[in-house]
Formats: sequence, C-alpha cells, structure tokens
Amino acid sequence: MARFGRFDDAAREYVISRPDTPLPWINYLGCEDYFGIISNTAGGYSFYRDARLRRLTRYRYNNAPLDMGGRYLYLRDGSSGELWSPSWQPVRAELEDYRCRHGLGYTAIGGRRAGIDAETLYFVPLGETLEIWRTRLTNQRTESADLSLFSAIEFCLWDAWDDATNFQRNYSTGEVEVVDGVIYHKTEYRERRNHFAYFACSAELAGFDTQRDVFLGPYRGWEHPIAVETGHSSDSIAHGWAPCGSHHVELSLQPGETRDVVILLGYAENPTDAKFDPPGSQTIDKRLVLPVIDRYRRTDAVDAAFQRLRDHWDELLETLQVSTPSEHVDRMVNTWNAYQCMVTFNLSRSASSFESGIGRGMGFRDSNQDLLGFVHMAPERARERILDIAATQLPGGGAYHQYQPLTKAGNDSIGAGFHDDPLWLILAVAAYVKETGDGAVLDEPVPYDNDPGSQSPLYDHLQRSLSYTQERLGPHGLPLIGRADWNDCLNLNCFSDTPGESFQTTENRRGGVAESVFIAGLFALAAAELAMLAERHGRCDDAVGYRRAQATMDAAVRSGGWDGAWFRRAYDYFGNPVGSSENEEGQIFIEPQGMCILAGIGLDDGKAEAALASVASRLATPHGIVLHQPAYTRYHVELGEISTYPPGYKENAGVFCHTNPWIVIAETLAGNGDRALDYYLRINPSAREPISDLHRCEPYVYSQVIAGRDAPTHGEAKNSWLTGTAAWNLVAVTGWILGIRPDHDGLRIDPCLPADWDGFTVVRRFRGARYHITVTKSPGTQGRVSRLVVDGRQIDGNLVPAAPAGATVTVEAAIRAAG
Ligand code: GLC
Ligand code: GLC
Repeated sequence: MARFGRFDDAAREYVISRPDTPLPWINYLGCEDYFGIISNTAGGYSFYRDARLRRLTRYRYNNAPLDMGGRYLYLRDGSSGELWSPSWQPVRAELEDYRCRHGLGYTAIGGRRAGIDAETLYFVPLGETLEIWRTRLTNQRTESADLSLFSAIEFCLWDAWDDATNFQRNYSTGEVEVVDGVIYHKTEYRERRNHFAYFACSAELAGFDTQRDVFLGPYRGWEHPIAVETGHSSDSIAHGWAPCGSHHVELSLQPGETRDVVILLGYAENPTDAKFDPPGSQTIDKRLVLPVIDRYRRTDAVDAAFQRLRDHWDELLETLQVSTPSEHVDRMVNTWNAYQCMVTFNLSRSASSFESGIGRGMGFRDSNQDLLGFVHMAPERARERILDIAATQLPGGGAYHQYQPLTKAGNDSIGAGFHDDPLWLILAVAAYVKETGDGAVLDEPVPYDNDPGSQSPLYDHLQRSLSYTQERLGPHGLPLIGRADWNDCLNLNCFSDTPGESFQTTENRRGGVAESVFIAGLFALAAAELAMLAERHGRCDDAVGYRRAQATMDAAVRSGGWDGAWFRRAYDYFGNPVGSSENEEGQIFIEPQGMCILAGIGLDDGKAEAALASVASRLATPHGIVLHQPAYTRYHVELGEISTYPPGYKENAGVFCHTNPWIVIAETLAGNGDRALDYYLRINPSAREPISDLHRCEPYVYSQVIAGRDAPTHGEAKNSWLTGTAAWNLVAVTGWILGIRPDHDGLRIDPCLPADWDGFTVVRRFRGARYHITVTKSPGTQGRVSRLVVDGRQIDGNLVPAAPAGATVTVEAAIRAAG
C-alpha cells in the first residue's frame, strides 16, 4: 500500500510529494474558452475551445517515456554547468522537496536542487484566452548564483489530427515571428486563419529559439537540449519543420534572493480585415494583443487574477457544503467530486490522459447525465446545454448519438439508433426544473435536427422522446435496444466478424427482436418524471397517460424482465435472454438492477430486495461492483463488443464506476443505509487513496473503470476524469445517502444513513436561498426523517418548501429508528 501525496483539505489541493506517480496525475487549467491539461510533472497541452481544431501545443500520447510534451522549464547553473527541470520532467534529475499542488483550475509544481528552489504556478485567468506560468526562484545558497532559465513548448499546427499525420505538408508550413522578445506562432495565418499563438516572458531575454531541432540538437530529446547544455540559444527562426518556443533568461541571484519570472502562452484573434500591420504586409497586427501581454507580464496583475480564480471556485462550491462523520464524503462532495463535475461539463469526453482530444464529440446520453452533476452550481449554463442538446434531436424523437461542440450539429457519421438516448433528455430537464423552478423552459422553442423552422416547445421534444420508445417495443413489451443502450458494448444487432468494424454503427442484422430491460427501467423512470412535469405544466391528461405508460412498462419488466432472483438484462436478436441463470456466462448484470429499482420497480413485492441481495452476493467486490458475472471468456458474435474485452476489463465485467451509484441509490430506496455507504466508499477516490499503487489513477477524481475480479490487475483504475461516474456519484451521495434533493416544490430532506452515524450538517444554496440543515440521529439505528423543523416551526413530511431568493432558512431534521 502506498500513497504518492496527501489531501490538503483547507487549501482544496492534492499535494503530490514524488514525481514518479504510477501514471501522470493530471489537472485542468481553464474553465471558459481556453483549456489545458497539466500533469504533476508539467506534461500536457493547451487548446482554444476545441481540443482537435485549435490545439496550441503538441503532446505525444502513448509515448515512452510517459507523458512527453508539456510546459517545460530548465535551469542551468552557470558555475557547474549542471542542468535540471524544477518540475522533474523532462530532465528527470533528482530534486529535493519536489511538490505538485493540484488545485481548482491551477497547478503549482516545484522542487529544489543545488540550493535553488523553483516553483511554478500555472493557471488561466478568468475572461482571458491565455495561461500564466509564474516561476518563483529563490537562491538558498550562501553565495550568489548565476543561472539560466529556459522555457520550452512545441507548437501544434492547429488541427491536432492533421498535425499528427500530414507531414508532407506540415513540414513546410510552420511560421513564426519574434518581436521584442515575444514569440508568435502564425502557421497558416498568411491564408485562412485569423488566429495565432504567442509565448511571452516578463524578463529580458538573453536569447530564444523557435526551431525545435535547433533548440534540441540533432537526435536529442527534451531531456537534454543542446541549448540548455551549452547555455546558449541560437535565436533560431522556424521555417517549416517543427516550430517551438523557448526563452532564455539569465539571472544572477544573491543569497536569499527571490525573483519571479512570468511566462505567458496565449491565443489571439484579429478581425479578418485587420490581420496585418502594416496592411498589405505579412506581419501580424499586434495592437489588440500587446496590451494583454503587457498586463500579465506584471506580477501584481498575475496575483490579482489568481485571487479572482480562487474566489470563483469557492463561490461555485459554496452551493453545497457538507460536514459528515466521513472525511471521504466531505472531501469528495465539498471539493473534488463537484470540481470533476464542472470539468466533465466543460470538456465532455474530449481531452484527458485517455481521451486524445481528436476523438469523440459530445455524447447525447453523456451530456444529459453530466448535467445532473453540475446543474446546482451553474443553472444558467445547464439551461443553455439542455437547449443545445434538444436541438440535435431528430423529428421522430430519436437522437444523434453525438454532436460537435463547435457547430452544435448532430454527428452524421455515428448517426442515431441508440434507443436509450432520447430518454436521458427527460431526466436532465426534470433535474433542471427541480433545481431552478424554471418550468418556463418547457415552452422554449427548440428546433429538431437544428433545422430552422422546425421549432417546437421543449415539452414537445420530451413527449417525442417517450413515444420513441413506445413505438419500438419487442415481443415481451420491452423496448427494442437498437444499436446499444447505456452499455455501448452490448450490440445485439451487429454480429460483426470483420476486424476494425464499428460495433456500434454496424447493424448488419435487421428484423431481430433484441430488447433491453435496462431501457425499460429508464423509460419507467422517465415517464414518471415527465408525468410530474406535465402536471405542473397544466397538461394533466398527458400526466395520466404517462403514468399509465409507466405502469405498463413496470408490468412488462416484472413479467418478461424478471429472472427469479434478479432483473434480466436483455433479449438477444433471437429472443434468448441475456443476463439470466439460463446463460452460461453473463448471468447477472448490474445495470437493470440499478435502473429498474430507481424506477421503483419491485420495491413493493420483494423483487428489489432479492435483486439487491443478488448484486451483493454475485457482483460486489472490495473494489466496487462489477458489470456482470460470470465474465465472457470468449467472443460472442451475438452480443458484440462486450465480449471483445479480456475478462474483467471495461464492459466485460469491469467495475464500470458509472453504474455503482445506481445501486447505491437503489439501496437507499430499499432503506439499507449501511450497504449504500459501503458501496459508495468502495469506489470513492479518497477512500482508495491509501492503495494508490494498485489504483494507479489520480486519487482525487473518479475513473471510468476499475479492473474487475476476473482481471489479473483487479483494483487498477483506468480512464480517469471524463466520465459520467462523476455526476452520478455526486447525485447518489448528496441526494440519496444524505438525502438533500431538489424537488418541484422545495428541498426534500430524506437521508438514508448508516447505523453508526449520528447525523450531519449541510449548507445548500437552492433557488437563491440558503439552507442550513442539521440532521440528527441516534447512533446504532437506521430510519427515515420523523420530525422536520423549518425556521423553528415543525412541519409534516420531509419537504422544505422553497423559500424566496435571498432568504436564509434553518432546517432541523431528526431521524427515528425504523419500526
Ligand atoms: C462510455 C460512454 C457512455 C457509455 C459507457 C458504457 O462511458 O461514454 O456513453 O454509457 O461507456 O458503455
Ligand atoms: C468503446 C468503449 C465504451 C465507449 C465506446 C464509445 O466501445 O468500451 O466504453 O462508450 O467505445 O464509442
């Protein structure tokens, strides 16, 4: 068991104390238009809005050594000629007191060598399209020190995909300008681009380089550039090949002296008719960008911008703060899980250590679920996101599986046909309306397929989402699955035998009867949510119809979807059950147990309890609950991609963390507070921090998967950061274990706690009012809220009516032992 750092809860930082973490442990810079990923040794890259099309710097995925390409700095000691990097990489010379503090939207990395301490703070100021590296150098020697500081980045020629493949063109297009010590990267600016990047420094330069292979020297890597070794830059100007940016600053520091050097990397645009200065030349017009560069070269402006960033995050997180008997709950809810939800909202699935920034667009289902995790912090942005997503819906109620963030248009190459997709929109809208009370959003005109003229109220979109399922039912009255449901790898209509073919979009069998019990559960849940929305929207007849639809689906699940001790997963193309004791492999799946119980199915007839007991005995492991058991040991052409992964990995019986909170919620619905918290903690990153050497991914955020019990590396996480796991875990712990849940008419207080807790407190911002909530319980018991006092007055039930904006409300809830 080993850790590589510790949580600093007061500072809201994770402090890494050795550079050789099992994998690069990253953080995100930027939360508006300019973004970067940064590892604990300064690896990573930056982009403006789109990680593929506006990539500023290069990064080499899947490289050896790990994590190459970054925001690098080198120090060279003039007297000894010794060189090192204060972030360890890329030189990897040993450091004393190495530390990396990953905070909310910033990272500071530093270390000491030969009596010289250097720490760099990296962040993106709010409202700007640039990043700041502020390096603070201190001479802790008893003599003065003559140092050279070199910076280094490698520019990406904008389209990261083209940049990594089209060398016959790209080796000839690279262009830069260097004026007054500022390096401008302007590849393709001469023709159709009106944007450029800049790399500036607050100190006077002794030299610079912009041609990578001159800076590095032939056949050298980033770990030992010739310029740093010799202490001389060449003032190289890149013409084609690989443009880079490197400043060289010479510093003489007295004993005890501290000096700050600020480096800026930024993105700028000019009006298309004012690109050049003088007009008609090929020189960038710098009149718009220079004032920005000049401002942030000053350390007082840097300090003020950093303080604003910290205030911004404190303000967002103040929406929900808890104090419970579990430090793991507090730490994740108050800081890291909320932060991860914002990052997931901003980045979707585009850029991480596992997402290359050139792959997927915005997922319809993913984005709707991500919304569940940030709607309370950024309701206006949630509203905008809902309208964007709904505008990609197809007139028939179906949905493009993905859409492109820049154009917001549906992605034709992937298309539609994932039959769960439309239903998630209902859950997202319901969550938004419960949080904000903004029922008017249902009247908002939204086009179908972004087709002007096709506008109809958002409410109509939700209706079509539901009827889309109703129009596609199979022989058991259960929804037809289409290409896949939540589990992208359960491809029951594909039967692929061609290497490289997409399991999701190749539907080479038609006319089958493959049905999904998972979608049935999701439908029942969505129908109930839509019924509540309809009632409040003055559409009571609709509401009656939706409740009837919910009941019909509920009945179909209880008959065709029940296997005897758990809910079945699906029926395949031929009508054979999947996730049944009749199967040899894949007898029981987690998803339908979670989703059907969330929809309330089986809570009144013992089925839910039986299903949860089966989950406990067959699927739960110390590292989380696996997707199914037994794992598939060979390829099943009729099941698809799920059986392509080796047993225990990813969708083939891995712990797919996204699904675990569904079981946590189901356990609270069944009243099992102990089991709910236990499951929650098994995948809680903070609780897993002591086994970081096994877990390997960052201990401060959720990963998509943890290898299941069939894998040789059981307990090892992969695909950290950009996962629906973030949203669902925050919902499960705050809304269902702590039970603080927005509802249409107020804030529900419905905790389901483990026996040994004696209560907790919460401060929650809700529709502009602030609620101070105290829940008490005698230890050793489980039960539900039996007494609710709001501002000194006892009220019936567990719903605190919504207070006017600006109000402060005191809520005391007491839990009495059940029965
Ligand atoms: C990935 C996808 C998500 C899907 C899940 C399970 O996380 O982004 O949409 O539900 O895999 O296959
Ligand atoms: C792969 C992954 C799955 C993901 C899908 C996205 O199938 O296993 O998790 O959702 O790709 O296309």
